[in-house]
Amino acid sequence: MVSEALQEWGTVPALWKRRHLLGVEELSAAEITLILDQAERFREVLCRRRNNLTGGDRKIPLLNGKTCVNLFFENSTRTRTSFGLAARRLGADVIEFTAATSSLAKGETIIDTAKNLEAMQIDCVVVRHGCPGTPKLLSENLNCSVLNAGDGTHEHPTQGLLDMLTIRQRFGTLKGLTVALVGDIAHSRTARSNIWGLKKLGANVIVCGPSTLVSKHWEEFGVECSYSLDAILDRVDVFNLLRIQFERQVVRPFPSIAEYAHLYAMNGERMRRTKRDVLIIAPGPINRGVEITPEVADGPHSAILEQVTNGVAVRMAVLWLTLTQENDNRK
Ligand code: CP
Repeated sequence: MVSEALQEWGTVPALWKRRHLLGVEELSAAEITLILDQAERFREVLCRRRNNLTGGDRKIPLLNGKTCVNLFFENSTRTRTSFGLAARRLGADVIEFTAATSSLAKGETIIDTAKNLEAMQIDCVVVRHGCPGTPKLLSENLNCSVLNAGDGTHEHPTQGLLDMLTIRQRFGTLKGLTVALVGDIAHSRTARSNIWGLKKLGANVIVCGPSTLVSKHWEEFGVECSYSLDAILDRVDVFNLLRIQFERQVVRPFPSIAEYAHLYAMNGERMRRTKRDVLIIAPGPINRGVEITPEVADGPHSAILEQVTNGVAVRMAVLWLTLTQENDNRK
């Protein structure tokens, strides 16, 4: 069965040398494209097998015998579940580590905790932590693969990749598209992963929100800054609507949620001023009535649930590329 899967999927292309995925910033355009291409292949098989009424085998046993640990120190619905599902779809075993009930509470450091898990002969740590740089720290102290599932305000690479896959599926390319990231740019790791990836693949990027959440500093990286959603509505192909991350804010960056929603929520009235084929995406969780109204979230332009499906495929691609045995000279 494994050899059949290897025949179908082939070996990892020589271009891919990485053992870890720490951020999109470090990836080349070719590496990003490789991940998206592989994810599309996985998605096609998963969806085809799901729709097969005779019930085909939905596993692609490329990672049989491997073990992945989900090491999450922050809440998650989509990322944790889809990393676990992606690993299982590829035949790997998954260990769910829960920080609150672990020996971290007895004073063990995160590095010691991870080294102890590694001593159980695991192959991969998928880590989410509130402190930027935690995945890099672990990658420097472990011999297994480390995948970043979100580190503070730094990066959320698989979210950025699944966003790009969703856009590419709709438009065929990212080159020349105008993509607006709207909302809490200051605290959003998703915004950072999107910015690096979208720029590398040739999209024009606008960051839009209140001046307290949108730094002019992004212009140094070729990103346009806008403080008015109304002013950009008619020239944007994709709106990526970001949640206000109250949990990361020390002081509230605007007077009230109602005022924020008045100025920046994507609603039915604003949708009537966008391009006819505009695409609406959001990383989730969404706060209905704050950054997006229900009629937009559930409307015909929304690809929010497609993003979630793509998240499984992207994480399968990342797991396969980083964990596959054919990889020598890995970074
Ligand atoms: N988009 C995202 O990271 O969702 P979760 O926090 O639910 O994983």
